[in-house]
This record gives sequence, structure tokens and C-alpha cells, in this order.
Amino acid sequence: MRNKSKKKHFDILEQVRIEEMVAEGKCLARHNNMVVFVAGVAPGDVVDLRIIRKKKSFMEAEAVHFHELSELRVQPFCEHFGTCGGCKWQHIGYDTQLYFKQKQVKDNLERIGKVSLPEFDPILGSEKTRYYRNKLEYTFSNTSWLTKEQIQSGQEYDRDALGFHIPGRFDKILDIKHCYLQPDPSNAIRLEVRKYAKEHNLPFFDIVKQEGYMRNLIIRTANTGELMVIVQVYEDRPGVMQALMEHLAATFPEITSLQYVVNSKGNETYHDLEVVCYKGLPYIHEEMEGIRFRVGPKSFYQTNADQAYELYKKTRELANLTGNELVYDLYTGAGTIANFVARQCREVIGIEYVPSAIEDAKINSQINDITNTTFYAGDMKDILSDELVARHGRPDVVITDPPRAGMHEDVVKKLLQVHPNRIVYVSCNPATQARDVEWLSEKYEVTRVQPVDMFPQTHHVENIVLLTAK
Ligand SMILES: C[S@@+](CC[C@H](N)C(=O)[O-])C[C@H]1O[C@@H](n2cnc3c(N)ncnc32)[C@H](O)[C@@H]1O
Repeated sequence: MRNKSKKKHFDILEQVRIEEMVAEGKCLARHNNMVVFVAGVAPGDVVDLRIIRKKKSFMEAEAVHFHELSELRVQPFCEHFGTCGGCKWQHIGYDTQLYFKQKQVKDNLERIGKVSLPEFDPILGSEKTRYYRNKLEYTFSNTSWLTKEQIQSGQEYDRDALGFHIPGRFDKILDIKHCYLQPDPSNAIRLEVRKYAKEHNLPFFDIVKQEGYMRNLIIRTANTGELMVIVQVYEDRPGVMQALMEHLAATFPEITSLQYVVNSKGNETYHDLEVVCYKGLPYIHEEMEGIRFRVGPKSFYQTNADQAYELYKKTRELANLTGNELVYDLYTGAGTIANFVARQCREVIGIEYVPSAIEDAKINSQINDITNTTFYAGDMKDILSDELVARHGRPDVVITDPPRAGMHEDVVKKLLQVHPNRIVYVSCNPATQARDVEWLSEKYEVTRVQPVDMFPQTHHVENIVLLTAK
């Protein structure tokens, strides 16, 4: 009995005002000096909260009753909002999204970085706030996710789905009617492939039983107008695939790269599988300032291409290149930044873990007649060595764009030892960037901070920090 009342006491917090938006798309509220993280609310909402997790220093809760709705709220435009994991900030106006993204960067740099900061350059918003992505990946499933309303209606629903994973559920897919993330003909192609598969009784994949045929669909729409479609199926049925490919080629003659993969593995990744080009070229091109980037089926390219251009221009501006510099581009991916800055400096050394990305990087230099780049594949902490520095020289400028985990401690130590004049640190994770900046502050001061929004309607934020040798 005592336990029950104690539990009840912790269970519901009444009339709590939500304060701000923080990392991972959650909002923050406070209760008795304890921080509470809540999803699906907006700063200014007054809500009753049910605690779903209680830790020493924070709690997680869900809103169970709304007393007041925030003035910052706007009407979400997508019918899948609230269920789909994609654009979780749609209920907040874009200016407010930008405000909280910038604040997140500032809070992290102040709290974790603990360094003195210059005045921030205002966050660079994305001109397009919808249809800004150039790549989407959809999954087929024979167990579509049903919303509460659908279940309560007692109606029978088609359980075949082609869409996105429900957050945290590997086995449940939300059937997407219209997605606002990628421009036409992305929606049309997805709907057509779905319709064709249904009409021809091609079974949608069962992830639990590992059976079915249709597995996955990738659509890439490049800013050159080139268009790649990759269909992934579970087993090799040549006649069936040929008919599907012919249908797609005839319905969408604008597809310039039509490909398929037979994937009988337990998961959808296909980096280790053959991708068969059925029609057109096995790659497409993105373009920036006349530089063309070849993007193959396994290549990484920034998904918001317009905003990537803004990000790279800022990166180059902060690098302050005069034509004489030796630049190291760490975590270079397909060498996009390396090739983008190559014409403004003496030489660029690009380093990246994934060998196929390094192959792309070299091709991207070749096809653009860029001859002052050298690329290395391998783990950064091994490749960025004394030997490499002896071979190429001490860099004047280092551009670094690590993954979410930030830089390995050994890489930071090496940078402190190599001691370039400037480090331009591009990051998609303000928390790990702030940690690395603190380490680097031993020999560097932060002289510019430029947040950039690459992903409107989501909590993600990109940030560039310029570190100048003290
Ligand atoms: C945020 S992406 C940067 C992409 C690139 N700068 C661009 O703008 O397209 C981070 C890159 O770091 C690479 N990477 C991750 N861990 C690595 C490591 N330990 N050593 C080298 N590269 C790594 C990833 O493969 C990925 O290409």
C-alpha cells in the first residue's frame, strides 16, 4: 500500500510549465530543482506530466494533459506528425526552431566547453524548410504500424507498408502517404513502387520471419536534376525484377540511374553487396560552384545539398585561405570539403575511414581536374601520424568534420602537437564538439562560432567553430 502511494506521488506532476527545447528533440521542464525531459511538447505549454523514468539527476516524463498550449506552437503540416520519427519539431515555428538550435550550441560550449566565447554569428537558417533532402530510404514491411485511432476504430487495415521505421522499433514501419522531406518525384516514385508491388503480389518483407521479396527503396534527387533509384529485394527473381525495372523506367523516364540489390542478409545494409545498374549510369552528380561530385549508390553526400553549400562556404571563409596554405581535411568523407577548398589553397590532404569514400574523393578530384589533393583511407588516430606530417608538412589550417562521437582523444592530442594556425571544426553534435574544444583550448582560443541549420523541422544542428592558435 505504502509503495503504491509513493509511486503515485512520483507518477504525476501537475501543471508544469515547459521551459525550453534541448538536445535530442526533447523539451525541458523543472520540478523541485530537478530537470525533467519531455517529448512532444513546446516551451510555454502547461501540462500534467507522468514520470516514465527517474534517475538521480533528471527525470523523463510524458505529457498526459494539456492545460495551456504555448504561443510558439504552429499547426504541423504533415499528417504523419506525432507518429513518424522524421520531423519532430513541426509544431514549432521555424524562427523558434532556429533560436533553440543556436541556444543549444551556446549552452553546450559554455557548460561543457567552459571556454571564453566570442559573440556568435547568427545561425544560418535553411532557405528551404521542406523538400530539402536529396536522399530518402524507405523500408517495406508486412506489419505496418497502426496508430491508436486506427486500432480503436476496429476497422481492418492493409498491413503492407512502405515508409519509415517507428522510432525505437526495428520491426514496425509507418506507411507514408506523403513525405515533405524530398522534392518530386520522390513521393510519386514511392507510391508507384508500392502500387506495382501490391498489384503484382510481390510480398512485402517480414523482418521477424525473414521472408518476403520487397525490402527497401532508396531515392536520390541531385541538384543537377539527375535521379537515382535503388530497389532492394530479398531474393534473386530475375524475371520479376526485370518487369519491375522496366515499369519504373517507362513510368519515370527522368531516372538517370536505375539500380537494384539482392540482399538476403539479416539487415538492409548493402555496402558489402553488389549493386546492379539496370539502366543509365551507376552514379549521379551533385554540383557546387561548377565542381561536380560523383555520387554512387554507396557514397555519402550531405543530404541537404543547398545548405551543405552554405556550410562549406562558411567553412572556407573561416579557414581564411589565401592560396598558399597546406590544409588537412580530417574526416573528409567523399572529399567534398577537400575538393571544394582545393582551388583556394596550395595543397589539401584528406583523411577518411571508409575506403570506398576515399575512392570517390579521388574520382571527384580527377573529374574536376583538381591536382593538389591527396587522400588517405584509415582510422584517423593511425593515419594522422608524425610520419604523415613529416611527409606532407605541418598544416597551416586543419578542417575537421568528425562523426557524432567527435574526435578521438589521440587525434586531439595530435592536433595540439602538430599545432596548425587555425582549426575549423565542423560538427553535427554540439556536445562532443564542446568537449573537444575544451581539450583544444590548451593552445587555441575560439574566435568564431557559426551555427548552421541543415535539417529544418528536426532538432539537429550543425556548428562551425574557428579555433585560432593562442
Ligand atoms: C560528418 S561525416 C563528414 C563528411 C564530410 N566532411 C562531408 O562534408 O561530406 C564524418 C566522416 O568521418 C568518417 N569517420 C568516422 N570515424 C572515423 C575515424 N575513426 N577515422 C576516420 N574517419 C572516420 C565517417 O566515415 C564520415 O565519412
